[in-house]
Amino acid sequence: MSVQAFELRDDDRRPPVDDLVGIVQRGLRSKPKRLPSWLFYDERGSQLFEAICEQPEYYLTRCEIALMDAHAGEMADVLGDDVRLVEYGSGNAVKTRMLLEHLHRPVSYVPVEISPEPLRTCVQELAEGFPALPVQAHLGDFTRPLRLPIPPRAARRTVLYFPGSTIGNFEAREAAELLRKMRAEMGDGGGILIGADLKKDVATIEAAYNDRAGVTAEFTLNMLVRLNREIGSDFDLAAFRHRAHYNAMAGRIETFLVSTRDQKVRVGKQQVSFGLDEAMQVEYSCKYSPEDFAALAAKAGLEIAHAWTDAQQMFAVYFLVRAGTTKA
Ligand code: AVI
Repeated sequence: MSVQAFELRDDDRRPPVDDLVGIVQRGLRSKPKRLPSWLFYDERGSQLFEAICEQPEYYLTRCEIALMDAHAGEMADVLGDDVRLVEYGSGNAVKTRMLLEHLHRPVSYVPVEISPEPLRTCVQELAEGFPALPVQAHLGDFTRPLRLPIPPRAARRTVLYFPGSTIGNFEAREAAELLRKMRAEMGDGGGILIGADLKKDVATIEAAYNDRAGVTAEFTLNMLVRLNREIGSDFDLAAFRHRAHYNAMAGRIETFLVSTRDQKVRVGKQQVSFGLDEAMQVEYSCKYSPEDFAALAAKAGLEIAHAWTDAQQMFAVYFLVRAGTTKA
């Protein structure tokens, strides 16, 4: 494997401490209060997310892996020969490996990841399984315009891989914007292979975000641990609790940190008041029916060329191309 890795670009998403204080203060001034969900993913948060994926209630990861297990060969056939595979958020690359095993003569693999450690781990793990694969690791924020590295040889098409239903963590308008950006990056003949959670009965969805072992609750509260450590705020962890419920009108899980008493929290030079039961929004996890997803794709000038789902309709993987380019 040849690795052109770890060029630290100036589009790194983690802001300096002063900016972080400003981001948090601004979020706490909005009504209702809100904090961005990317704040979950410090080292501990990333470990907790891995643990969430192992919980019996969190069906998303298991279902997506089962889909890859059943259909990765067919996906690779659809993607075709000589693909450059760009992954948004390299994660632990389990699903990526399943895809790479079937890809025909991939030109290169470009994991795009905001945190150096997961990126390094991903590259190391791939080195063992795919010694001949050129890897061009890119440290940076995939929500910003990417300057993709020059591939080692001409690719027939660039495919952006975005598994895990992370698209669901963007509000509908932001999701369309991100897909539009991806459409530009993949180029004319390119495509997007993307995993998205499907709408289903509310109890199943809500259980996935309220696991019995309390791992998701710890993940949510860890955001406050991170802020106390990184910006010196004084959130009392015992005075906030995790709440996740499904908003059927909006088609999404809405996760909050709820204040369990009247209290004041110091953030930078400001004191922020929280009332009893006041909820601060920290994450959306949008769920899409196949029709919803086609409509979202259309807003970005894309269409579904292929879709893979399981018999229980738990999860879907779509291959998106520029609208008007699928054969009738
Ligand atoms: C990363 N993302 C797709 C997860 C989700 O399901 O929205 C994050 C998560 N939040 C709580 N549990 C899992």
